[in-house]
Amino acid sequence: SDQLNDWLQGAGTAPLPLGILRRGLGPGTEHKVAKASALDGSSSGNASGKLPHAASMESNRAQPVEVHRLLTCSAEFNRVTGGGIVPGSLLLIGGEPGNGKSTLLLQIAGDVASSGCRVLYVSAEESVEQVSSRAARLFGLMEPRQEESTERRQSLERNLLIMHEACLEDILDIVEEIQAGRENAPPNSAPRATTASASTTPTATVPSTGAPSKAVGAGRKDASTVDNTDAQSPLGLLIIDSIQTVYTQENEQESAAPGSIVQVRHCTNRLLGLAKRQQQRLREPWQRTAIMLIGHVTKSGDLAGPKLLEHMVDVVLYLESEQGLFQHRILRCTKNRFGPTDIGIFDLTSRGLVDVPNPSLLYFQAAESSLMHDSDGAAKAPNNPFHTYARESTDGTAFSMVVDGTRAFLVEIQALVAKTSLTQPRRTSNGFDLSRLYVILAVLSKRARLRLETHDVYMNVVGGARIQDPAADMAAAVALASSLLARAPRPDTAFIGELGLQGEVRPVPRLDLRLRDIARLGFRFCVCSDRLSSRQETAARETGLQVIRCRTISQVLQFGI
Ligand code: TYD
Ligand code: MG
Repeated sequence: SDQLNDWLQGAGTAPLPLGILRRGLGPGTEHKVAKASALDGSSSGNASGKLPHAASMESNRAQPVEVHRLLTCSAEFNRVTGGGIVPGSLLLIGGEPGNGKSTLLLQIAGDVASSGCRVLYVSAEESVEQVSSRAARLFGLMEPRQEESTERRQSLERNLLIMHEACLEDILDIVEEIQAGRENAPPNSAPRATTASASTTPTATVPSTGAPSKAVGAGRKDASTVDNTDAQSPLGLLIIDSIQTVYTQENEQESAAPGSIVQVRHCTNRLLGLAKRQQQRLREPWQRTAIMLIGHVTKSGDLAGPKLLEHMVDVVLYLESEQGLFQHRILRCTKNRFGPTDIGIFDLTSRGLVDVPNPSLLYFQAAESSLMHDSDGAAKAPNNPFHTYARESTDGTAFSMVVDGTRAFLVEIQALVAKTSLTQPRRTSNGFDLSRLYVILAVLSKRARLRLETHDVYMNVVGGARIQDPAADMAAAVALASSLLARAPRPDTAFIGELGLQGEVRPVPRLDLRLRDIARLGFRFCVCSDRLSSRQETAARETGLQVIRCRTISQVLQFGI
């Protein structure tokens, strides 16, 4: 690319956006690459004069850079992984016990299996019956939505293999067998149904002890229904639940207990080897097996075992449970070799983990219903949940939109400023960083001449949310001033901006995203910095919000309170 060359040499052209590079060969570049490969191949000589790589370049042209991904039914999960699981990659998902790691991965296993790839779910923690009955419950509850669903169901029943095994060597042997297409349950093994109740729900069968493989189809009602032609379908996904409970017997010194650092590191290394070997051996991406490892976290929140684990894998995900009102599960990607890092939000229900596409809206719907409950039941505009709530806002409350990953969240910040008799006034905060609170208090007293030294200050972020984003500074300042002055902030208004020590309002990143979400929630005004980029200006116009541009905190308070 001439553009890139110019840019690298500092020739003064505009920097090429990274996105274009990521998307692979642009128009015109194929030609150049083909030429380069012709130079490579010229020494080897080609009688027909045809370039050695020309054919592959041609196919490149026909199908411009197709990235293979295993997609699940969860839009949140697909987004968090940057567009699906990359075949042949190694993923690690960490989280505290009971957060729903096994549930999530079983759902993913089901999705991938119903799309036609084989999936081997190896649980070293739970028995086949336990996992199968959970699978039966999760998938049995799935509504048959479309006509293709019976086909998907059959595919799921055929392709999901569940196994209880803790010895890594045995696991790898079975993986090899399945990959080689030799995996087969013996035709006459006695089916042992698990607790699945209805005849339509999948049941698990356990092959007799002499079976060459301990893998069983979660969905098979009878081992004789195994269709040999399906043995050809590739093993798309291998799930290990969990890396701390598997062990290797390879070396004498590996006699350490499962879960010890030596074992965890060695097992992960072996699985990494498996993933890397396929990348070299198998040309077609769809033949490769992605490997997902579940890892437990220690009390301090680190993945048990060395940090090394995170360096070794391609993608690191954490499943956290939010302590707030809704106890959402947050899936956070902290490392991704195949795309951006992002977060996804789920609800843990009896149907497993369910996507929460718009958490802020949910929050407001609940706020509204509790409000309706409190008041004497007078019906209030139900299609605009924000209105009823913000209209009745009292002093000491302000709204802001914070961003985490690529998602925006509405937060409500409350402050209580009360006269104190103590010589050292009290300052406490829940969900808002205490040192930021001190800075904002100092800015308010110095730049806005508010007398806060003689008052106790209590700050709280409603719903137990934790704010890291400095964009909430302005809302915190407004809540404080509003409580001190005992005047409610202007209704239908969101405050977005970082506060500088001079009392200036600083611009924040991703304002376009925030404005869009605020408008969707029914706000009418948004107070922000007066320095907007052209993209943010466009976004502001498109949302129809009245954007109030302020340069200093005094201007914010003048408008907002
Ligand atoms: P689990 O996936 O076993 O957690 P982990 O593997 O991270 O330890 O899930 C634990 C919790 O999930 C358990 O308390 C029950 C709950 N759960 C649901 O709420 N709905 C469901 O459909 C399932 C399978 C579990
Ligand atoms: Mg588990």
